[in-house]
Amino acid sequence: MKINHVAIAVNNLDEAVKEYQNVLGVKEVEFETVETEGVRVAILHLENSRIELMEPTKETSPIKKFLDTRGEGLHHIALETGEIEGEVNRMKGTGTRFLGEVRPGSGGTKITFIHPKSLHGVLTELCSHPKK
Ligand code: CO
Repeated sequence: MKINHVAIAVNNLDEAVKEYQNVLGVKEVEFETVETEGVRVAILHLENSRIELMEPTKETSPIKKFLDTRGEGLHHIALETGEIEGEVNRMKGTGTRFLGEVRPGSGGTKITFIHPKSLHGVLTELCSHPKK
């Protein structure tokens, strides 16, 4: 596994992107909307990973709920695995709790989330890329 990205919930994506770009000196940014998760995302490419800034696109977005209760800040880390279904089955065998089934994420990926209670308070996304 490797860290695919670190995701941060923000109130205003355009403002947050500018600040992150200024502070980190990152030039390249991609924007993406993931309607199934109710988020608009800005992806800042680092040397070995990515930071994803996320803002909610609708009132029912889980990110909206997160911002309302906890405010801006670290939302989840994402671990990339080669074969997500096998990894999920292995983890379920250890009693790991998940938030939803494996489902399509952005850019052809497959994702699911491990419940923070299973990882000492850290919401963790599992993701895998389509086979090339
Ligand atoms: Co993510």
